[in-house]
Amino acid sequence: MSNNLLYFTFASFLLVSSSSIAVNSVLSEKELKLIRFISYLTYLQTSTNITWNGWEKNYDGPQLGLDAIRYPLAHIGYTAAALAYRTPNYRELAVNILNDTIKRMLTLKVWGYIDQYWQKTSTFPDPVYYENIMYSGHLLQLIALYESISGDLIYDTQGFDFVWTKDGSAETTIHYTTSQLVRAIYRQMDDDSSAGVSCEPGWVYTICQNHPHLGLKLYDVVRDGRTNFSRISSKWKDFLNHHALEDIPLYKKDRYFKMLYQRSTHIWVPFFAATGNDGWALAWMSSWYDQNQTSDFICNGWKVMYKNKYWQPAESGCYLEAGGYIGVRMQMNRWIATSFYPMVEKQCSIDATEKLACAYAWFENNFGTYLDIDHDGYFESFYYETETVYSNWVTTNVLLSLLMGENRVEAKEFLRQIYATKFHEKFQNDEPEIIAVQYPTIRVTYAQYDSTRKILVINFNTEKPSILSTRFDIKYPNTFLTISNITRDGLTDGFSTKQVTNDRIRIEYSYNNLEKQQTKFHILFQ
Ligand SMILES: *[C@@H]1O[C@H](CO)[C@@H](O)[C@H](O)[C@H]1NC(C)=O
Ligand SMILES: *[C@@H]1O[C@H](CO)[C@@H](O)[C@H](O)[C@H]1NC(C)=O
Ligand SMILES: *[C@@H]1O[C@H](CO)[C@@H](O)[C@H](O)[C@H]1NC(C)=O
Ligand SMILES: *[C@@H]1O[C@H](CO)[C@@H](O)[C@H](O)[C@H]1NC(C)=O
Ligand SMILES: *[C@@H]1O[C@H](CO)[C@@H](O)[C@H](O)[C@H]1NC(C)=O
Repeated sequence: MSNNLLYFTFASFLLVSSSSIAVNSVLSEKELKLIRFISYLTYLQTSTNITWNGWEKNYDGPQLGLDAIRYPLAHIGYTAAALAYRTPNYRELAVNILNDTIKRMLTLKVWGYIDQYWQKTSTFPDPVYYENIMYSGHLLQLIALYESISGDLIYDTQGFDFVWTKDGSAETTIHYTTSQLVRAIYRQMDDDSSAGVSCEPGWVYTICQNHPHLGLKLYDVVRDGRTNFSRISSKWKDFLNHHALEDIPLYKKDRYFKMLYQRSTHIWVPFFAATGNDGWALAWMSSWYDQNQTSDFICNGWKVMYKNKYWQPAESGCYLEAGGYIGVRMQMNRWIATSFYPMVEKQCSIDATEKLACAYAWFENNFGTYLDIDHDGYFESFYYETETVYSNWVTTNVLLSLLMGENRVEAKEFLRQIYATKFHEKFQNDEPEIIAVQYPTIRVTYAQYDSTRKILVINFNTEKPSILSTRFDIKYPNTFLTISNITRDGLTDGFSTKQVTNDRIRIEYSYNNLEKQQTKFHILFQ
C-alpha cells in the first residue's frame, strides 16, 4: 500500500450543531470498511450464509493467554458502543454487533478454559463467582453497554445462562442476571483490601481491573443512580495511585504501571512491566476516573508512552516494541501495545503528535488488507492482517480510536461520555432515530439530530455502484414530535413516505444513476 495513504481523512463537514459532545463528521470509507469487518466477525456471520470465519486463530488457542478470543470479542463490543456514539441517532447496527459479542461471550468455547484453573473450587463451573475477572469484567462491561445503548434490560430481567458440558460431563446450567453478576464482582472487590480481583488463581493483573469498574459505573448510570456499586471503585483507585506505579529507577522512564501482584500478599512481581500493559491499562482508565484525576495520574502515563525508548522506526511508520519481561506468556507484544496507543493519546492530547501519525502509518502500510468476504467482486471490508493471532483485536482497537475522532476536546471526552450516559434515554421523549436500515447494502455514514432546530440529518451511501431501491424507518416520540418536512438532497421528491404506525414513518427511495451513491435526508420536526 502506498505511503501517502495516511488516513487522517475525516470529511469533517459540520452539518448540524449537536447539544452533546459528538464527533460531527461523516464516517469515512476506511471506517465503513473496518465496521463491515467487525460486523462479519459477529452478527453478519450468523445472519448470512458466508463461509468466511475470521476467528480460527483465536478459537484454536487454549484461551489462557493474550490470544484468547474473549479479548478481541470484548473489544469489538466496545468499538460497537463507540459506533453508536458516532451515529447517535442510528444505533441499530451497533446494538446488533454488541449483542452478538455478548452471546458469543456466553458460549462454552469462550469461557470453557476455566477447568484448567478452577476445577477444584467449590463453585466450579460457575465462571464469574470467584476470580476470573479477565472474563467476568469484560462480560459486565459489554452487558452494561448493551443496556445503556439499547435500553433493553433482558439480561437483567430474564438473565442469561452459562451452560457447562465438557468431556461427557453432565450438563450444568448456571443462571445469572446482570445484577447478580454485579454483586459477584462487587463482593470480591469488597473482600480485598485493594479491591483487586484475581484474573488467574491468586494473581491480579492491572490490565484486567478497569473493565469491571467501567461496568459498575455504567450499571449505576443505567439505573439512574438508584444503585451505587461504583462507590467501590475509589478503593481500587487509591491502591493504584499508591502502589501500582513502576518504581524501579531503570524501568520507570519507559514503563508506567506495574503489571501483576499476588493477591494474598499484595506483592508486585518485580521487573514485570511492559508498554502494552501501559497501553491497555491507560486506554480504559480515564472513563471511570474523575476528569481532573485523568489529566494528572493517567496522562502522566501517556507521557511515558509518548517519550518511550521502545518506539521503533519501521520502513513505513513506527511501532512500540513490547518493552516487557522476556519469555513470559503475558508479555505484551508490539501489535497490542501499538494498537492501544492512539486511544491513550486521544484521551490526553488535543494536538495530534507525530507518534500518532506514525503508529497509524505502521498499521496502514504494513498490515492494511482489503477483503471481499461476500464474494461480490467488491472489497467491502478492511482489516489489519498482522500475521499473528492479534489481527482482530488490533483491527478493532484501531477502529475504536478512529471513531473517537481527531485529537481535540471531543475526542478526549469521547469514551468518558459513553460510560457516563444512559444512551437510550433520549429516544423516550426527545429524539427520533433511524431503524430498519438495509445494512450492509446501505450504510449510514451520519445520523444526528439537532434538538434546537429539530432537524434529523442522515447520510447514506452504498458500497458499490449499483442501481437499487431501499427503505428505512424513522421512529419518533410522537407525543412530542411530528414530522413537518422531508427533503432528499435538498429536494422534496425522489422518495416516497408511508406512515407505518403512529410513531413510525417509512421512507423508500432509489439510487437512480451509477455515479452518485450518496444521499442525504433532512427530516424536519415540529
Ligand atoms: C442460507 O442458506 C439456507 C439454505 O440454503 C437458506 O434456506 C437460507 O435462506 C439462507 N439464508 C440467508 C440469510 O441467505
Ligand atoms: C439481544 O439478544 C437477546 C438474547 O438473544 C435477545 O433476546 C434480544 O432481543 C437481542 N436484542 C436485540 C436488540 O436484538
Ligand atoms: C455513591 O457513594 C459514594 C461514596 O459513598 C458517594 O460519594 C456518592 O455520592 C454516591 N452516589 C450516589 C449516586 O448516591
Ligand atoms: C477540576 O479542575 C478544574 C480546574 O482546575 C476546577 O475548576 C474543577 O472544580 C475541578 N473539578 C473537580 C470535580 O474537582
Ligand atoms: C420543505 O422544504 C423544502 C426545501 O427547503 C421547501 O421547498 C418546501 O416548501 C418545504 N415544504 C413544506 C411543506 O414546508
